[in-house]
Amino acid sequence: MENELKRIIKNILFPKVKINQALLAEKLHKKTIVITGGSFGIGEQLCRQLSEINCQLVIVARTKEKLQQIQQELQNKPATIYIFSADLSDEVQLDQFIQYLQQYSVDIVINNAGKSICRPIMQSLDRFHDFQRTMQLNYFAPVKLCLALIPQLEKNKGHIINISAINVLLAPTAYWAAYQASKTAFDQWLRCAEAELLIEGIKISTAYLPLVKTRMIEPTAAYQHAPTMSRQQAVDHICQLIIEQRAYYKPWWTLLGQVSSVFFARNWVKLMQFYLKKKKC
Ligand SMILES: NC(=O)c1ccc[n+]([C@@H]2O[C@H](COP(=O)([O-])OP(=O)(O)OC[C@H]3O[C@@H](n4cnc5c(N)ncnc54)[C@H](OP(=O)(O)O)[C@@H]3O)[C@@H](O)[C@H]2O)c1
Repeated sequence: MENELKRIIKNILFPKVKINQALLAEKLHKKTIVITGGSFGIGEQLCRQLSEINCQLVIVARTKEKLQQIQQELQNKPATIYIFSADLSDEVQLDQFIQYLQQYSVDIVINNAGKSICRPIMQSLDRFHDFQRTMQLNYFAPVKLCLALIPQLEKNKGHIINISAINVLLAPTAYWAAYQASKTAFDQWLRCAEAELLIEGIKISTAYLPLVKTRMIEPTAAYQHAPTMSRQQAVDHICQLIIEQRAYYKPWWTLLGQVSSVFFARNWVKLMQFYLKKKKC
């Protein structure tokens, strides 16, 4: 009974989208797609899905063995898969990846690699590096990658797709300062750049995802029983953005949260204080 109720809630919160595979294949035929963070989670699932199409996938992440395993598993698929192992939060390795990409003619870049940290400020007093690391991967790396790829994207009338989180659209949440600030930073950057890039013929899309069942949310106890979107559903929404080239995807109910975030901002802070004090007792 409990499981059935969970299933119904999930279906209401995350209704399934049906992807037109033929249209997706047509859009991506012989295109070169860069996917950051393609070794696990949403990025891995996306690689598997796009491997069914005759295109070139360039995947980057840190875990070389996992990238090699994916490449080997998908070697008989229509897509050609290139892998590059790099820690994108390390500027030298990021530059090496950018250098490596110069041999391609990139059509789509999917900025998906990300790091999340959930930690109270009072436990972060000696952890300035948490804020540096999240900014490095979630903000500076995609900014530098986009800047480097803009000439190729301009030539190919390409597409930048950002994998973001609904949290950047809603009132901020306690414990998530490092992650939310860094995701919001890149979201703002891309929104500022949007009009400038659109006139150069480069499309911009953002997937504002809710909780997705990946290893990223595993360490957060509070999320263990929360309704989550599956990796495949997240990938379907990203594919839909590729097909329709819409500016964004966000779950239908995000608007309610956005309106509440404006009208009940102070109440939200009070509610969080109440919750945090109760937790301390
Ligand atoms: N899961 C959620 O609830 C959720 C919700 C909203 C938005 N998102 C966003 O979705 C994106 C994908 O997250 P996910 O849930 O799929 O998480 P995940 O399973 O942890 O995957 C993250 C990917 O990023 C790569 N990565 C992490 N640090 C990296 C680094 N320093 N350099 C290069 N690659 C790195 C990881 O590979 P390696 O470890 O091999 O480097 C992995 O492939 C993130 O941008 C996240 O912010 C997730």
